[in-house]
Amino acid sequence: FAGGTAEFLKGVVAMSGLPDADRVEVCFAGRSNVGKSSLINALTGRKGLARASNTPGRTQEINFFTVGEAHYLVDLPGYGFANAPLDVVKKWQALLKQYLSGRQTLRRAFVLIDARHGVKTVDEEILSLLDSSAVTFQVVLTKADKVKEKDREKVLAQVRSALSKHPAAFPEIVLTSSEKGDGIDTLRAIIATLE
Ligand code: GTP
Ligand code: MG
Repeated sequence: FAGGTAEFLKGVVAMSGLPDADRVEVCFAGRSNVGKSSLINALTGRKGLARASNTPGRTQEINFFTVGEAHYLVDLPGYGFANAPLDVVKKWQALLKQYLSGRQTLRRAFVLIDARHGVKTVDEEILSLLDSSAVTFQVVLTKADKVKEKDREKVLAQVRSALSKHPAAFPEIVLTSSEKGDGIDTLRAIIATLE
């Protein structure tokens, strides 16, 4: 994984569009603006990679990136939009459900949570969906650079408590800053161990 060249492969709007399930796959979920695209850019060392695919109209697509020969990174659309039309939300939820429950090679979902805010009500829905889809998920706290050292333990405790209700949760929480680079090597190493 580390050192592999990252490329945008495709945006997918239906299960029929998924690329062959022939690689280790991890996906990134999280509230809109939480820092998913920035994290993918930081992990791959390619500024603008995830953003390049993030054109308007593509926001409801599942975006696939290849890293090296053996990994897919998958950028899921952000949730928690206040004004998204209901039919769009429903269509997206249906696709997400099918993807999470039907993707054999999906090894882990990383759920991004803003380190300033912790797990919110809007996050609970995806956590429950991951439980019911039996997809192991791991929380990645983002924007750690915006949280003072002394406040970190408090948010970690809140997240730990929220995770205790979710059987699919992986216990280790990764604190990251895409801006400063904190935790990026750790997360890369975690992805590299998945087979
Ligand atoms: P959607 O694609 O709309 O769902 O958003 P996203 O989750 O992909 O978030 P994105 O990566 O576009 O980042 C949203 C904003 O947060 C941008 O202005 C980023 O520059 C900022 N941001 C992301 N990561 C960090 C970080 O680690 N630290 C700080 N300070 N800002 C960050
Ligand atoms: Mg994005």
